[in-house]
Amino acid sequence: MRKRYHEVARVGDVPPGTGIPIALPGDPECVLYCTEAGEHFASTALCPHQNERLDRGRLEGCEVVCRRHHLRFDLRTGDCTNAGGYWLRTLDVKVEGGSILVGVWEDD
Ligand code: FES
Repeated sequence: MRKRYHEVARVGDVPPGTGIPIALPGDPECVLYCTEAGEHFASTALCPHQNERLDRGRLEGCEVVCRRHHLRFDLRTGDCTNAGGYWLRTLDVKVEGGSILVGVWEDD
């Protein structure tokens, strides 16, 4: 297995304070976020509570707030910050030369 990075967007494609749906190999439902401060994060798309789409949620700093029951997830760690027992799978993001890349573990 090795991590391969896939271009999912260009810098500027995601308005600050929002998330957009993206598709990755093996994981067609993910979200790419841009915070108001311009940092990019990515996660799987469905809330681990009851599967609401998180691209419809609200960003507050580095946290995404699910619109359905308002659980909050820290996009740096995946931790749920206002309830126990929930965790969001976050993805590795890097920016290179104006491209936003997300890392995916793939077979060699
Ligand atoms: S579905 Fe997201 S908080 Fe309940």
